[in-house]
Amino acid sequence: MNKDEAILRTKYSRCDGTVICGQRNKYDYFSTPSYVVRALLETIKFEGRILDPCCGKGEISKLLKREGYKVKEIDIEAHKFGVGKKQDFLSYYRKVSNIVANPPFNIALEFIKHALDLAYKKVCIVTRLAFLETNLRHRELFMLYPPTSIMLFSRRIDFRPNGNLFGGGLASIWIIWDKEIRSKYTKFYWYNKKEVSRNGES
Ligand SMILES: C[S@@+](CC[C@H](N)C(=O)[O-])C[C@H]1O[C@@H](n2cnc3c(N)ncnc32)[C@H](O)[C@@H]1O
Repeated sequence: MNKDEAILRTKYSRCDGTVICGQRNKYDYFSTPSYVVRALLETIKFEGRILDPCCGKGEISKLLKREGYKVKEIDIEAHKFGVGKKQDFLSYYRKVSNIVANPPFNIALEFIKHALDLAYKKVCIVTRLAFLETNLRHRELFMLYPPTSIMLFSRRIDFRPNGNLFGGGLASIWIIWDKEIRSKYTKFYWYNKKEVSRNGES
């Protein structure tokens, strides 16, 4: 089997307790629906350049550019997606004002710690709610760098390309660090808007 095509079997548990099997790409490619990005843009403004360090097909970066932001895109598989520059983010050391990303979950902790080292201003990460768990993440991340805010999607999100709009999917959050705001407390809020389609068109 071609190494790059390696697929890992994975399981997702639904809120009703059933389990569905899915396929998982080696580099954890999933696709962020545009309404997830717009939810962030409704509440956060950026100053300066933004880096999407794992841009995939540009699902996040495209919308940031459409808002008028200057965005740099890299991805370890950029050659495959035809978007951005091929680069392993964990060996990328150029400082930047902001980072916005949906990182591969299996290395999300390393990704976020690295993003916090590189960004001067904001780091915004969309990931699973379960990322808030575990002693390791508490000790190595949340205790040292309490996030400024967390936005929970009250509907689960299906990150499979062309996945369902509602149902299935994963409980998901945006975690936002604003380095210009210092507090040991994290603001928590829910995003509960009903969207009309996966891409948000009416
Ligand atoms: C969850 S997908 C996100 C894709 C897209 N940005 C989106 O939000 O829909 C994770 C992406 O991380 C990329 N990736 C995995 N490991 C990486 C690394 N070390 N450096 C840069 N990109 C990486 C994968 O190729 C994949 O495109």
